[in-house]
Amino acid sequence: MAILFQSEQKRFTLHTKHTTYQMKVDAYGFLLHLYYGKKSDGDMSYLLTYADRGFSGNPEGAADRTYSLDFLPQEFPVQGMGDYRSPLLCLRNAEGVYGCDLRYKGHEIRRGKYGLKGLPAVYASEEEAETLAVTLKDEKLGLSVELLYGVLSESDIITRSAVLSNDGGRDIVLEKVQSACLDFVSGDFDVLTFYGKHMMERSLDRSPAGHGARVVGSRRGTSSHEYNPFLILADRDTGETHGRCWSMQFVYSGGFKGEVEKDQYDQTRFQMGLMDEMFAYPLAPGEDFTAPEVIMSYSGEGFAGLSGNLHRCIRKHVCRGKYRDGGRPVLLNSWEAAYFAFDGKTILKLAGEAKELGMDMVVMDDGWFGERNDDHAGLGDWHVNEKKLGCSLRELSGRIHGMGLKFGIWVEPEMVNENSELFREHPDWALLVPGRAKVLSRDQLVLDFSRKEVVDGIFRKICAVLDDGMVDYLKWDYNRSIANVYSHTANNQGRVLYDYVLGLYDFLERLHEKYPDLLIEGCSGGGGRFDAGMLYYTPQIWCSDNTDAIDRLRIQYGTSFGYPMSAVGAHVSASPNEQCGRRTPLQTRFAAAMTGAFGYEMDPSGLSEEEREEIRRQVTYWKKHAALFHNGDYYRLTDPSEAAAAAWAYVSEDGKEALVAAVLQEVHGNMAAQYIRLQGLTPGSFYQDSESGQIYSANALTDMGLPLPVMFGEYGSYQCYLVRLGEEADGK
Ligand code: GLA
Repeated sequence: MAILFQSEQKRFTLHTKHTTYQMKVDAYGFLLHLYYGKKSDGDMSYLLTYADRGFSGNPEGAADRTYSLDFLPQEFPVQGMGDYRSPLLCLRNAEGVYGCDLRYKGHEIRRGKYGLKGLPAVYASEEEAETLAVTLKDEKLGLSVELLYGVLSESDIITRSAVLSNDGGRDIVLEKVQSACLDFVSGDFDVLTFYGKHMMERSLDRSPAGHGARVVGSRRGTSSHEYNPFLILADRDTGETHGRCWSMQFVYSGGFKGEVEKDQYDQTRFQMGLMDEMFAYPLAPGEDFTAPEVIMSYSGEGFAGLSGNLHRCIRKHVCRGKYRDGGRPVLLNSWEAAYFAFDGKTILKLAGEAKELGMDMVVMDDGWFGERNDDHAGLGDWHVNEKKLGCSLRELSGRIHGMGLKFGIWVEPEMVNENSELFREHPDWALLVPGRAKVLSRDQLVLDFSRKEVVDGIFRKICAVLDDGMVDYLKWDYNRSIANVYSHTANNQGRVLYDYVLGLYDFLERLHEKYPDLLIEGCSGGGGRFDAGMLYYTPQIWCSDNTDAIDRLRIQYGTSFGYPMSAVGAHVSASPNEQCGRRTPLQTRFAAAMTGAFGYEMDPSGLSEEEREEIRRQVTYWKKHAALFHNGDYYRLTDPSEAAAAAWAYVSEDGKEALVAAVLQEVHGNMAAQYIRLQGLTPGSFYQDSESGQIYSANALTDMGLPLPVMFGEYGSYQCYLVRLGEEADGK
């Protein structure tokens, strides 16, 4: 049993393989947090301390002045009960009065993992997970809150969510609802956040959690390039292979807020949930509201352990569908090869190249529909521009399929250009505030996906294209942030951004059901919506519009803390690079791209025969190791923003094989050798380099490292594939 309830002490203990989470209902009915850390038995109530502290109020009925919610660790702290730290729940009743008083009502322990209405969530079988549902209630207000905990024991994952129901007779307006809280009674922590911008997403920022709050989030209506909905709290000395760390990852693709607050008693509150700006959700009697899920994990053995837990969880318990476990096609995408300047012949020519070079699929990117010849017009008009292509979609697709290739297309279903038939027909389908200046971005507007008729209308158009074109792959793009929040049909504009995300998920869920074999790759100007919510529908996401191999090393390094490499869309592109002009060897561009869901983004027709041969070798190499790339444990071996060599490795779960890759970011005359210390190898064993035949001790590779060959010229790269010795003996 992963979830235990000690009825006398009203104590809940949640065990995973290596971790324990504990909480209890106290004498007054408040749900207090006790512990989240290394697996442990016993009662952790001893961690609570009580004292008469000035200006920390005592709730009515408390035995004396030593009891205050202002310093007690809690599971779901609310506004208005004397806790002045940042609350998880803020609301107003029908008279506009703030605050509520939530006390324990009951609980249920269930087999399996709870699901959430209309929202993505971690899924697991009845054997893999258990659910704890604790109900708290404010009797006067008529508000029930069901706190949901999912425990995935083998994966060392605990998930949280909450369902709020108005079972009273009056309206309530929710003004802030967070999904998860971790209150630490002691500790001196660093906060790790993943910040960035278009073309440079998810750079790691590590700063001390000082007094006051450290808040990151997105008010863009999507999870954003700027901050990722994934935060880590770690001891100051935690590194890749040692130390304590805790993470929260939001399974949601809209605005979010992640907060770490160190209080007056040096205690730390860590929380994650919805962005509370432009949020005022009306909860009428009989209605409920679901807070999106947060995935939490703890590792006592550094970031590598934490990332390993999250990678496995996302791969096996978030991603779904035919391509969940691998078999992803190697693709050639038309964007950097032709941008908007193509016709059917260009795509067929690319398909010919793809075939000749051993790839599996050709993708026709932006520009095939409506009057879409640049990025000023056409979004919303999801019918093929036969005049431009010179043929029908069915014909084009048929010829590509006839070559033995798969066929993919680009779409941006949530958007509309003013210069489009759709906008002329349905101007009220766009999010625009009547009478106020609109904000355009890339000359486009966002469609109001909070309205069912809008979602239905676009769904029909996209399905018609998919059916006609026999499409195998869809690149689902989203190329601006939301600014004007107004829906023509909403009963409160404060719910529009949340309902928008629900509309998006509804669309994606219907696609998932109707086209079980369709591979969808998420995208938002590259990695502007790279989150666990999207990964429930799209098992890979275009990681960045920046395809420069050297920048990608940093982007993918940051991304890897929270997300598996199987989710990272990565392509080899031309040199000099289209975004920054940097020149890098073809082999290095491959090294950076092979890390993820792999493909090419270039016109191969101008390449020399030597380069073409190299590409053929790359594709063969990638396919040979595809299972290891997809399912292997991924290790960050150096930090590319600090080390001369960026290095990483994949090790199969059973430790039998490992693939090490490195890119030299600096070059100097008479340069010192770079040693890369490996991780994840089977201790005490030996590994053989499959190419050179050299045999290495796993312990020595881990302790002293592997010297990289001294390379001449800029941005050289190195790969080696190691096989553990004695496998034959194992097999006998
Ligand atoms: C976004 C994507 C690119 C490309 C263009 C097309 O920027 O991230 O990969 O698809 O749109 O307009």
